Amino acid sequence: MSCTNIIGSTSFHPAKYPPFCKPKFSTRVNCDWPTQISKDKASVICSVLKNGYTWTCNDHFGQKSHHPTRRSDIPRVLDEALFTTGKYGRFGGMFVPETLVDPLNKLVAEFNLIMHDPEFQAELGIALRDYVGRETPLYFAQRLTDYYKNSKGEGPEIYLKREDLNHGGAHKINNAIAQVMLAKRMGRKTVVAATGAGQHGVATAAACAKLSMECTIFMGDVDMERQSSNVKPVKGTFKDATSESIRNWVGDLDSSYYLTGTAVGPHPCPSMVREFQSVIGKETRKQAMEKWGGKPDVVVACVGTGSNAMGIFHEFVRDEDVRLIGVEAGGHGIDSGKHSATLDTGEIGVYHGAMSYLLQDDQGQIIGPHSIGVGLEYPGVSPELSFLKEIECAEFYTVTDEEAIDAYALLCRLEGIFPALEAAHALAYLEKLCPTLASGTKVVVNCSGRGDKDAETVFKYRQKQMAQHF
Ligand SMILES: Cc1ncc(COP(=O)(O)O)c(C=O)c1O
Repeated sequence: MSCTNIIGSTSFHPAKYPPFCKPKFSTRVNCDWPTQISKDKASVICSVLKNGYTWTCNDHFGQKSHHPTRRSDIPRVLDEALFTTGKYGRFGGMFVPETLVDPLNKLVAEFNLIMHDPEFQAELGIALRDYVGRETPLYFAQRLTDYYKNSKGEGPEIYLKREDLNHGGAHKINNAIAQVMLAKRMGRKTVVAATGAGQHGVATAAACAKLSMECTIFMGDVDMERQSSNVKPVKGTFKDATSESIRNWVGDLDSSYYLTGTAVGPHPCPSMVREFQSVIGKETRKQAMEKWGGKPDVVVACVGTGSNAMGIFHEFVRDEDVRLIGVEAGGHGIDSGKHSATLDTGEIGVYHGAMSYLLQDDQGQIIGPHSIGVGLEYPGVSPELSFLKEIECAEFYTVTDEEAIDAYALLCRLEGIFPALEAAHALAYLEKLCPTLASGTKVVVNCSGRGDKDAETVFKYRQKQMAQHF
């Protein structure tokens, strides 16, 4: 399949752009979607209006999106995206072949219904409480806090949102259980899903068992070697498993349901996943109020595609006094080219049905991502996070494989908690963050999953390091 590469243009001089507006509007369309997207369908024309710090973007759907500059305006854009367009500024959308527009629109309508259906919400609430094990604790990590104190005994207070204590060992089940309930309500017989680290696969299989649905989980053979599971192998990694699961779903649109565990894909997938994960942030606000009578000052989460990050960030997007920090996988280091730092280094393009930042080369072809945290290895990212980056509502940083391994070991040693290597990326960023914060600053780190699945990887990594040392 060949790919289309379209560069938008504008008549304004770069110097006149508002601060968050990049001078180059470059849209690339990657063709991992099962059917090629036609050039005119994918074309995006961006026009910059010099009216203060607001700019308008028109896409081929004729939708205009005004980028707000105040944090308090952001929820309006996010809500609009949730139930209507799926557009977060110029990100998101439904870049799919015509045949999929109808099934996706049906999903949007059904999603709308369940969000306003008290019966469904009550049933979901019970499942989250009694099956998933919510609410998860907001744990004060005393020894980790002590570790980051300076010589005067001052430092931030570190709390962990214990998503690792969910049934299945990760945040993925929050979304999986809700979507399997939705699939059942829509009369679907089977569920297809793709998994990278295995956590979404386990969560989906568990939810399907509970609700008596059949499921097929696709996993890249490279990932299976690292995180072995009983799943259908696909040549490659998570991105290839995702393409394969979409292909499988497209072959049987009437009776199967494509259950995404990531905050990517065409509308309404990213919005649905964020909405089902937003329970993390809602609980965090309530628990912070109970524990110290206020909000967190800083919220930190790792970013693979963004489901756990948006899950905890969403509640706080309107709070100007809460810093939102996403940590991406720096892999072997940004300069090595072997990383998954999509927001940090990517360019805008279309992949798996939506527009977001992407790791891509000059021809618009996907660059294979790398991370020691398998669940962070994806070349795209949530359109909503792309939007939050562009309007500077959230900050994004990277940590390397080695820093993540160190953070994994540190949390095991100090707190007796072993985090998933994905979550260890968020924890690793504390090393740089803590010395910059005022004493008593309340930092919440989303511990998105537990790390028993990673023990062997960490062990092998350490062995290799030792062998190189001696
Ligand atoms: C425990 C855990 N944390 C984080 C992630 C990254 O995904 P996301 O960015 O969508 O939360 C994964 C993905 O598999 C995961 O298993």
